[in-house]
Amino acid sequence: TRKMILDLDTGIDDAMAIAYAVAALDVDLIGIIASYGNVLTPLSAQNSLKILELLGHSDVPVYLGESHSSTTTHFDVMPISAQIHGKNGIGEVPLPTPKREPETESAVDFLIQSAHSYGKDLTVVPTGPLTNLAKALKLAPQIQDEIGNVTLMGGALTVPGNVSPVAEANINQDPHAADQVFESHLNITMVGLDVTLRTLLTKNETAQWRSLKTEAGKKFADIVDYYIDVYKITSPHLHGCALHDPLAVGVALDPSLVSTLDLNMFVDTTKEMWGRTIGDPARLTDKNPNVTVALTVDQDKYLARFMDYLTKLFAE
Ligand code: BDR
Ligand code: CA
Repeated sequence: TRKMILDLDTGIDDAMAIAYAVAALDVDLIGIIASYGNVLTPLSAQNSLKILELLGHSDVPVYLGESHSSTTTHFDVMPISAQIHGKNGIGEVPLPTPKREPETESAVDFLIQSAHSYGKDLTVVPTGPLTNLAKALKLAPQIQDEIGNVTLMGGALTVPGNVSPVAEANINQDPHAADQVFESHLNITMVGLDVTLRTLLTKNETAQWRSLKTEAGKKFADIVDYYIDVYKITSPHLHGCALHDPLAVGVALDPSLVSTLDLNMFVDTTKEMWGRTIGDPARLTDKNPNVTVALTVDQDKYLARFMDYLTKLFAE
């Protein structure tokens, strides 16, 4: 079976990405990397451990990743992140202190070792900043030819950004790292706002989880309802919350969910266009595009699968 590593800034939609990955039967989730973003790295690790325990999957190890971007020495959570995900990252919903602790091996070492061990069978799904992956590439450049695929949640090509007119949050945290990842030989699929803003969840769906009357169903309904309530205020035109991160996992497992375009992309690191993911005008005739960009998504098919996976998981 295929092996998957998630690199998360856990985060409400990151928590749903964990649920989707453990519910999928055609992949083996071998580890979760904790990144900074929606919360600080240690809290991201705690949240992932809590969610894994809630789902009965505490066998999955969690590794501590970088705690700030590749060009800074410190990271503070953006007020907008704390607003969207709650200060604790999981909608202010209390979950028991996890029994398991983060691993002592660093996330970057785990990533490098996994690339060596599993090669093309390994899929990496980052749904936070790309700092850990960029660092692993720097320390062990050979992994770019080993790893099967990187399917990342981040960026925007056909729609505006969500933290600036041009930048999506994950890329905005560390555009230099993102550009290094884009410029590598890695097989990259970009699942950006172009598609993630089209897969929306409403309280009709979370009510189905709550009606299961299980701990996982109730807690996930509470956590995601918090996120839906925030979206009502921040994005009233959407009628639901965006399934950003679980869509990346869905596309990693089944690329036929999206239509794509292969392009030569780069990440802008200039002050004016900080974090913009855009086609490289200097490489328009280059026949080896570096990124597969998801442009449209079969939203009905995805939502049906998402509900099928998570409802079965929460019913257990
Ligand atoms: C991305 O930013 C984070 O807040 C979410 O978890 C998602 O990964 C959306 O831009
Ligand atoms: Ca995320």
